[in-house]
Amino acid sequence: MNIIYKLILTAAIVAIGAMTLLAGSINNKEAERIALATAPIVQEAVQHKSEEWEKYYPRQYSSWKKTKDGDELLDMLKEKPQLSVLWAGYGFSKDYNAPRGHYYALQDNVNTLRTGAPTDGETGPMPTACWTCKSTDVPRIQERDGELEYFTGKWAKYGNEIVNTIGCANCHSNETGELAVRILHLNKGLEAAGLPKFEDSTHQEKRNLVCAQCHSEYYFKKTKWTDENGNNKIANVVTYPWANGLTVEGMEKYYDDENFTDWTHKISKTKMLKAQHPGYELFKTGIHAQKGVSCADCHMPYTQEGSVKYSDHQLQNPLETMDRSCMPCHRENEKKLKDIVHRKFERKEQLHELAMDNLAKAHLETAKAMEAGASDSELEAVRADIRSAQWKWDYAVASHPGFFHAPEETLRILSVANETAMQARLKLVSILADHNVRKYIAPDFSTKEKAQKIAGVPLQKLVDEKLKFKATLEKEWYKQAEKNYNLNAKKSRVGLDDAQTAYSK
Ligand code: HEC
Ligand code: HEC
Ligand code: HEC
Ligand code: HEC
Repeated sequence: MNIIYKLILTAAIVAIGAMTLLAGSINNKEAERIALATAPIVQEAVQHKSEEWEKYYPRQYSSWKKTKDGDELLDMLKEKPQLSVLWAGYGFSKDYNAPRGHYYALQDNVNTLRTGAPTDGETGPMPTACWTCKSTDVPRIQERDGELEYFTGKWAKYGNEIVNTIGCANCHSNETGELAVRILHLNKGLEAAGLPKFEDSTHQEKRNLVCAQCHSEYYFKKTKWTDENGNNKIANVVTYPWANGLTVEGMEKYYDDENFTDWTHKISKTKMLKAQHPGYELFKTGIHAQKGVSCADCHMPYTQEGSVKYSDHQLQNPLETMDRSCMPCHRENEKKLKDIVHRKFERKEQLHELAMDNLAKAHLETAKAMEAGASDSELEAVRADIRSAQWKWDYAVASHPGFFHAPEETLRILSVANETAMQARLKLVSILADHNVRKYIAPDFSTKEKAQKIAGVPLQKLVDEKLKFKATLEKEWYKQAEKNYNLNAKKSRVGLDDAQTAYSK
């Protein structure tokens, strides 16, 4: 054979081989597509274990698992010492960290000093409601025991049951794989606000509402009920305060009308509100929401793997995935867009710091006025200002990236918070003068230690008790859950026993 002929033959054989391989690969992909589209039902009894979904949806599972990479622990009480003063007398003054990956959501709830150190199912400071946005076991138990029974009793009552972090069964139907929501309070909130229920919402809105199950404002509504044996019980039911609309003023009016108070402030004796994380509500006022962009568009960008396109389930900061999260819509280069976002952050920080300083001083100046003999009626208007100002400040910053999701609304709310806190302080100057206190300067709260001392937080005692709880009852919970086949610790608790806390460093 001449050399040219040999080369042509070889090339032809290679080409035929490649085409066969390609056809095979297309056939495999097609088979895979059909297999995925007709994925067998994830059994109802095991749907709370996300690893049971892995064999049908391997890509979504492995990207979901990567929420473990979002492991940075940021002690906010150290970053912003004013916080311990603002929350004096309330759990958040003990321990409060910036949010991190969903993989840690449940463990962080178990670890925080806020949930205390129960010694059995009936002790500890918090109600069962505290588990509600942490786990796939929550809808399982609500469906098994009933919603009101789930919301009755102490947090530790379900310690041996609520053992799997946020996962597939929080956002998907086990039968169809479609987006689905199983907790009841979301639809109740939407109904109260006059909005369509989850099932009647558009597909794009469902891509927001699965997140709104948790990234929303709520409170624990005390609800009397009688169980089937005739026992009178009180449930703490997670409730969205949306009846006057999804705005900061609407929710404040709702709480005022209900005469609702989260706690009485330890320093100023003000009846306070604590904002949770109205991320969804604040987002809805921003330009992206108004242009129909949903949470999933930025936080769960489509990812191409060969011929398969799927939603990235890592749920992280979208600035890490700008090529997929932002660039499908924006033309600026990434650096320029990132700088714009950063500048928005700085603007918010400036008003945020001012509001915290003004509010912390308002609490301390109120305490000074009380010490000097000011009566509750003299301080009534001051306390009304403090309650309203702190609610607004908290609302604006508790849904952390409000500065990006809804910059104008965030800055507006912070400005009103600052103005109202200043009104309280102006009133305090004259009340203090009436009681012969002039030029009072509030004590220094510039470090976490100083601020917690002012707030009366017995930190070391709380830590010692917590560590004892972690060495005893907590270990027992996982043993029991494994025995009951509700937990696959080898798959789903990797690294969690040693997860970092603010107090273990
Ligand atoms: C079942 C409740 C729940 C649902 C549903 C939920 N989240 Fe979360 N999310 C949380 C909690 C709790 C945290 C804080 C976890 C921690 O700090 O340990 C969190 C944290 C986050 C973070 C911070 C991650 C990091 O690495 O810093 C992002 C981003 C996030 N969620 C986005 C979303 C989006 C987008 C959706 C909807 C697609 C969603 N979440 C649905 C409860 C939920
Ligand atoms: C916080 C909510 C949330 C969690 C947790 C979650 N998903 Fe999703 N998932 C979504 C959203 C939102 C979409 C986009 C759906 C759409 O647009 O129809 C999606 C899409 C999907 C799809 C459709 C194909 C695709 O990739 O777009 C599958 C399959 C899927 N998820 C499987 C899973 C599995 C398996 C898990 C657990 C390992 C999981 N999801 C956990 C919210 C979630
Ligand atoms: C247009 C894109 C976009 C949309 C839509 C979007 N986000 Fe974000 N989100 C971001 C960016 C960017 C950040 C990070 C900002 C920063 O640098 O802190 C972020 C951060 C977050 C965080 C992390 C907070 C923290 O401090 O770790 C949470 C939680 C979050 N978003 C939830 C949501 C929810 C819930 C929705 C829908 C209601 C949503 N986001 C819609 C872009 C978006
Ligand atoms: C689905 C499309 C879409 C995606 C995805 C998207 N944006 Fe936007 N963005 C818009 C639209 C639409 C506007 C409104 C302005 C306009 O019409 O040009 C906007 C406005 C903005 C603005 C100016 C708004 C303001 O509040 O000042 C910034 C900054 C921005 N986007 C950043 C981002 C970043 C960062 C990401 C990725 C994390 C992102 N966007 C993802 C569509 C999108």
